[in-house]
Amino acid sequence: MKLLKDFMEMKNNGEKITMLTAYDYPSSKQAEQAGLDIILVGDSLGMTVLGYESTVQVTPDDMKHHGKAVRRGANDTFIVVDMPFGAAGVDEKIDMQHAVELYRETKANALKIEGAHTAPLIKKCTQNGIPVVAHLGLTPQSFGITGYKLQAASKEEAETLIEEAKLVQQSGAVMLVLEAIPSDLAATISRNLSIPVIGIGAGADTDGQVLVYHDVLNYGVDRKPKFVKRYGDFTIGVDALKAYHEEVKAGIFPSAEFTYKKQIMDEVDA
Ligand code: KIV
Repeated sequence: MKLLKDFMEMKNNGEKITMLTAYDYPSSKQAEQAGLDIILVGDSLGMTVLGYESTVQVTPDDMKHHGKAVRRGANDTFIVVDMPFGAAGVDEKIDMQHAVELYRETKANALKIEGAHTAPLIKKCTQNGIPVVAHLGLTPQSFGITGYKLQAASKEEAETLIEEAKLVQQSGAVMLVLEAIPSDLAATISRNLSIPVIGIGAGADTDGQVLVYHDVLNYGVDRKPKFVKRYGDFTIGVDALKAYHEEVKAGIFPSAEFTYKKQIMDEVDA
C-alpha cells in the first residue's frame, strides 16, 4: 500500500497521483486491481448509489456502511472516507466524535473534510492522530449556497481560496482536493503548497486527479460534468439484462448447460 510519505515523494518527483471513488466491495476490488493510488469513499455515494439528489442526505452511518465494504474489497490501497454533511464544522465536540468513529470503524487511512471553516477540526483530528484530506473550491455539501458551478472565478475569490489552502495546510491537512476552479489558480496552489493537491475540474497542473467511479464508467449517471472523461460504458449492462429477460420469457434460459443433471423424482413418491 502506498502511504502518505509516498504521495509526498510523488509530488516532489512530479509523478501524478491517481484517486478514484468507490463505494462498495466490487468497485473497490476493481479500483485496487486497476492499480489506483487512492480510493475515496466519497459522499457522492448519496447520488451515485443511493439515488439522492445531493450529498446533503448522506449520514455518518451511510459512510460507515460503505467505508467498511470498500475496505473489505481493497485491503492494500490507501482509503480516504468523506465526513458527510452536518458531521463536520458544526460543533467541535460532536464533530470529533464523528471523526473518531468514522476513522476507527471504516479502518480508513484518512478522512476528507469539506470547507475552510473546518480548519479547527482538521487541527484537532491531526493532533489526535487522524490524517485529514481537505476539500476546497466547489464543496458539494454547500451547493445550497454556491450552486454547482466554477468557483473562485473572481480575483477576490481566487485570493481567498489561496489563503484557505494555506490555512488547511497549516492546520495539518495531509492532502488537498480542489474542485471546479480555474486551472491556473489550481496550478499556483499546487506549486505553493508542500502537501499533494488532487484536482477534479481543476485542470492538468495539480499533483493528481480524482474522478467518480460511476462517471468514469458511465454507470447509472444522468449527467456529465465538463471535467468528466468516460473511460468505459456500463450502459452495456442494460443490453445484458434485456437479453436475460427475453431468454427467460422465450424459454431459452436455463438450458441443460445451466441445469443440475441429478434426477430425483424416480425415488420420490409424489
Ligand atoms: O464525494 C466525492 O466523490 C468527492 C469527489 C468529487 C472529490 O468529494
